[in-house]
Formats: sequence, structure tokens, C-alpha cells
Amino acid sequence: MITHRSYAVEPWCLREHAPHLDVLPQSESVFALSNGHVGWRGNLDEGEPHGLPGSYLGGVHELHPLPYAEAGYGYPESGQTVINVTNGKIIRLLVDDEPFDLRYGRLRSHERVLDLRTGLLRRTCEWTSPAGSTVRVRSTRLVSFTQRAIAAVAYEVEAVGCEARIVVQSELVANEQLPERKGDPRAAVALQSPLQPEEHFADGHRLRLVHRTRRSGLRVGAAADHVVTGPEPTGTRAESRDDVARLTVTSVLEPGQTLRVDKLVSHGWSSTRSLPAVSDQVDAALAAAGHGGWQGLVDEQRAYLDAFWARSDVEVDGDEEIQQAVRFGLFHVLQAGARAERRAIPAKGLTGSGYDGHAFWDTETFVLPLLTYTSPGAVAEALRWRQNTLPVARERAVQLGLRGAAFPWRTIEGSEGSAYWPAGTAAFHVNADIADAVVRYTAATGDAAFERDTAVELLVETARLWRSLGHHDPHGAFHINGVTGPDEYSAVADDNTYTNLMARANLRAAADVVERHPRRAAELGVDTEESAAWRDAADAMHIPYNHDLRVHEQNAGFTRYQRWDFANTRPDQYPLMLHFPYFDLYRKQVVKQADLVLAMYKCDDFFDEEHTARNFAYYEPLTVRDSSLSACCQAVIAARVGHLALAYDYVTETALMDLQDLEHNTRDGLHIAALAGTWMALVAGFGGMRHHGDSLEFAPRLPERLSRLAFHVELLGSRLRVEIKPRAATYTLLDGGPLTARHYGEPFTLDGEKPHALDIPAPRPRPAPQSPPHRGPVHPRTS
Ligand code: BGC
Repeated sequence: MITHRSYAVEPWCLREHAPHLDVLPQSESVFALSNGHVGWRGNLDEGEPHGLPGSYLGGVHELHPLPYAEAGYGYPESGQTVINVTNGKIIRLLVDDEPFDLRYGRLRSHERVLDLRTGLLRRTCEWTSPAGSTVRVRSTRLVSFTQRAIAAVAYEVEAVGCEARIVVQSELVANEQLPERKGDPRAAVALQSPLQPEEHFADGHRLRLVHRTRRSGLRVGAAADHVVTGPEPTGTRAESRDDVARLTVTSVLEPGQTLRVDKLVSHGWSSTRSLPAVSDQVDAALAAAGHGGWQGLVDEQRAYLDAFWARSDVEVDGDEEIQQAVRFGLFHVLQAGARAERRAIPAKGLTGSGYDGHAFWDTETFVLPLLTYTSPGAVAEALRWRQNTLPVARERAVQLGLRGAAFPWRTIEGSEGSAYWPAGTAAFHVNADIADAVVRYTAATGDAAFERDTAVELLVETARLWRSLGHHDPHGAFHINGVTGPDEYSAVADDNTYTNLMARANLRAAADVVERHPRRAAELGVDTEESAAWRDAADAMHIPYNHDLRVHEQNAGFTRYQRWDFANTRPDQYPLMLHFPYFDLYRKQVVKQADLVLAMYKCDDFFDEEHTARNFAYYEPLTVRDSSLSACCQAVIAARVGHLALAYDYVTETALMDLQDLEHNTRDGLHIAALAGTWMALVAGFGGMRHHGDSLEFAPRLPERLSRLAFHVELLGSRLRVEIKPRAATYTLLDGGPLTARHYGEPFTLDGEKPHALDIPAPRPRPAPQSPPHRGPVHPRTS
């Protein structure tokens, strides 16, 4: 955990005044740059010291055997793991023969700044070598949003005080040695030096390496080109071998003189293209980037981000830490998804190798909602990736004896990667989560081509799954038994309310969409009988309810399970799954993460306010938040039922998840869904925004600590600004329109730029619910 204040609190930057080597791996995640296609961890330019060196390419993975002590039918046999591809970040510096290394000599100053408006990571430092030569180093790094294959570094060394003999080695390095992996040794072996050399090249200022993964057979290329500016004479030499290509630059600097190396790097990969084609691909990307050079990339980056912030910014008055954190979250979510283009958006984005680089339901449930209202193009691409994996999902459904498509719980390339079926295969809700994202995107954009070409197929195949997974009982009610909902402490349960409500929406959306697209439906073999069966199942969906307590059950019988013995569970026994057997967790009332509470957000039309408040009060003392995905959901519902202080505490927890390493694993990569959750908690929680079909609603209300919250949403080509103060909310249409919405149920229409101000009613007072002992919201305040 980051116990000291690592980063200054500033509205648009993340600034580290001095390097803290004890939390270097965490800072590498926090300072990671990515565009969703290429990801560079925030490793130091010189490569060492490091926590976890990391360069990733969306979709590039290696396969390894998945071991089982006892075999079972339908267990996935092959695991997929993200690999560290060729490292293009490395720029080593020697000052009078001494390698620049923070651990030696004297570091006079060292600052790193991630600027969220420019998208640049800047580092400035002054270092005196053990032999007494002093240099100033300035490096600026970017991963381009506009040219997705490209990353770049501008590196400058200046001699201070006396003459210095300088050597700069700019490298491409493959098969870097990584810290030892914990866990399965067979996977570790498969991932040791995963890249087999195919080509190396060095000429002039240009470098190139092409490799191929052993088992997954992916061809991975990286190339670099340089512009070198230094005093005469400055020499260069390029060389390469299998796993290293290097440009060496030598110069002698008088005090005040500077040597500058601009390094452009391109990354590319393919499962099908030949070696010459991949070489050409990375060379061509470099040629295109070389056109505008470093400054061109910087200017494009700024313009791209200016447009993003104009659509997406969230302004928070009253809490500078939350202001910084929500922008930090927005930036990283954008980085994870912006250019992922028909590849998975992993739970860690491209910031680390945690969760083996797998994508989960996190994408559709937490990340895509934010992107839908801020960068909708990225959402269409993410969902087209799901569509591209349909052949594998259909095969999986057949293997499981089901119809339609069974999407994987965790994956990189589309096949199931979870070796633990109760929390993997049985978590069928991922299918409804995908359908939900499809419906939301279509409603928010009106993208007719997407609906016809992508939405119909995804909705039909997921509806088929639900119809075959569930059954009508003799009284006609439709049940979906033996599934795992979001709460992984209640696996393989009957009629999980979240799953059933989401499946119900999925079935209805499929029945509606085939009516709008009869030809496409016919091509997919849907007839009126089939779509009628979907509607019947949806209308008859069973939702378990305890009439004595007047609360909805998380799953059938849940409220009659024995309660977890919270009083005798020590604080150090959390997360529970690491200290207690799953079998015991499964049969008791204890909730890992928001499940029914999430259902009350996603399917809010099903729950009236009284039930929402009562259910929340019932589930709050059972919810231990052993997952980073919980706090943001709890924040939304806490705000909805008027527990504003509690909601605020949950917002704080989700917002500072990575900035303060609350789960002690930020080193493995950022919690992208929790970062997106900060936006969700503010916009859907304090903004009370709900969008279903053509209904857009707001029920805003601020906690005491905040004096103002403003956010932007893009909807059907219009841009809306919502500004909330303690007593009133103001809605302003910035572009497009007209737009009709509701404020606490009252409809209003915006046409033109005239703002519309509406009063905020006071919340109904309710007693605050209790959290389980030791599991209240984390208060990670540094200010
Ligand atoms: C959560 C899942 C989540 C996964 C990846 C797990 O701890 O229980 O819901 O998808 O982490 O973030």
C-alpha cells in the first residue's frame, strides 16, 4: 500500500516529486501510457531499477496448459496470458562511463508528471554520477491516440557545471528478464522468453526486431527511428542481434550544451501476415509518424485530448483529491479503450499483467457505460470484438449443451480462460452484460448500421442462451438455476436476481430487435415462434422475494442461509476467499461484491424506492467488498436512497483505489473498472443519471462535502452539460438537440443553448445502514 503521499494533488496532473523505489512497481502502473493497442508501463527510461517491465499489445498473448488435479468434461485446456512484447522504451545513458542509475551517485532532483490534458509523461531530473559529473535529463513520453501503432520519447541530456562525455543507447529489447511469477510453474515455463527471433535489422538511425510467439504463433514486430541533435561531433552507430537492436549516440557536452534524441517507435502484430508483411507494417507506421515527427505527435495528442475533455470532463468542487482522481480515472479508461479496435479491453487495460491480461464482464458493465457517453466509437469496436468471437462462443454453448452463444468469463482471444468453473463458466451473466452494453450503445448513439450488423446477432445469440439455460416450471414461471451472479461468494445458485433481471432485459431486447430487422433475423434462423418464446420467458421470469422481510433475495433461498459469523472474523481474514473454504462461503449470507445492489442500479425500473432502500439496508451489513468492483455500485444506490455521506465514502474508496493502492496489487496493473466506477458513482450516484431506451433521467443530489459537480454526456449526437449545486441542477445543451429528459420524474426539453435550472428536493431521512465489522468504506485520505 502507498502509505506516504506519493502524488501531489493537482486538478490536471499526477506529479511525483521524488522517486519512491519502495513503490516503484505501483508507480509504473499509475504512470502507464496506452491507447488500447499499445501499452507502455511507466518504467524508467534506463530500464532499471524496475518493478515489472511491461510493454503490451492488445490481443498479443501466449498459450499454456491449464492444469487440473482431476479432469472434468468441458474444462478449458489451454490458458492464455498476456506477454511482455519488445520493449521500445529503453534509453540508457552513460555519463563519463558511469551508467545513469537512480540507485548510485547523487540524485539532486527527480520529478515525474503525467499531464492528463496533453497525454504526456514528463520526467526531469538532475543527477551527479559517483565520479562527480552532473547532468540534467528531461524525457517526455507518449503513446499516440491518433496513430495507434506509435509511441515516442523525446530524450535530452544537458551537462551541468563541467564537460561530460555522453553515450546514449536507444534500444529495442525482446525477451526481457521478468521478476519470477508466482503460481503455476508450467505457465511460468511457457512464458519464459516467449518470443522466438525471426528478424533483426539496424541501419542508420533505424532499428527493427520481428519475433514470433511459440504456441500462439503470433508475429510481433517493433521498429524505431531517431532524430539526433547534438553539438559537433555527435556520432551514431546502429547494431542488432536476435533480441536487441541498438542505436548508440556519442557526444561530448560542454556545460549548458544539450544532446537530444527523439525516438519514434512502432509496434505491430499479426496471426496471419508473413514476416515481410509485418516488417513492412511497422516500417510504414514509422514512416507515417516521421512525417510530422515528435512535435506532430505532441500536437495531435493535445487536440485529441482537448476533444475528449470537452465531451467527458467531470468537475468537482469541494474535494481536490476526488477532482484529480476522477480525471485520472477518465484518462486511464480512455487509454484502455480508445484504440483497442476489435480486441478485448482487459481488466487492467494495458497497464500490467495482472489477471493474465484477461478481459471480464468488467468491460461491458463498468468500462463501456462511461465510454458510451464520452467515446462511443470505442464501444462499437469493443462490441464488434465480442461479435468476432461469436464462433468460439457458439462452440462453447454446444459443448455445454446449450443454444446460442456462451461468452467466456475471462479471455484474451475469445475462448474460456477460467479454470475454476463455479466462478467462471457458471457466471453466465456476462452474456446479459454484453447484451446490456449493446442496447445502451444503440440507444445512446442511434447507430443504425451497428444495430443491423452487430446488435441483432449478439442479442439473438445471447437470448438463445438464456432460453436454453432456463426452464418454465409446471406453473409457468421461468427459472435460471445453477448460475453464479456477480457475488462470487454465492456460486452455482438458483434464480440469481441480477442474472434473471438482466436475462429478462436481454430476451426482450432480442425480441424487439428482430421485429425491427426481420431480414437479418431470418438469416439467423429466428422465426416468430422463437421470439415469442423469448418474450414468454422474460414475462414469466421468476424473481425470488422474501415476503416476511419484504426484501428481494439475491438468489432463491439466500435470506434463509445462515449468516456469516462477522463478529468472529478478524480484520486480517479479509479477503475471505484467502482464509475460508469456498464451500462455507457459498452456503452462508455473506456477499463479496454488490450483486442485488447492482441489479437495483442496472434494472432500476423493477424496484420501487421503498424496496431499493429496504434491500440496500438488508444487503449492506452482508457486503464485505472483497472486490474492487463493489464500492462504486454501493455508492450509486446509497446516493439514490439518500445515504449521501456513505455514498461519498464509497466514491472516495473507488476513486483512490489505485492512487493509494488500496487493494495492495496496483503493481500488477490498474483496476480499470474501479476507475470507471468513479465516473459511475458520481454521474449515476450524485447525478442520479439513468438512461434506458429513449428515457433519460436525472435525480441529482450532492453530499455535504461537495459544493458543485458538473459532468458532460454525449447522447444521440448532442452534448449535454449537467451542473449540480446543493439546491439546484442546471442542464445545458452544448451542441445538437433538442433533447428531452426528466428531473425527479418531471419531463423537460432542451432546445438551443438556454440552460434549464431545476430545484433539488431534500432526501427522505432514513437510518444509515451498517457495514460488516471492519469492512466499512476505506477512508484513505491524505489531506
Ligand atoms: C471480481 C470479478 C471481476 C474480476 C476482475 C474479481 O475479483 O469478483 O467480478 O470481474 O475480479 O476484475
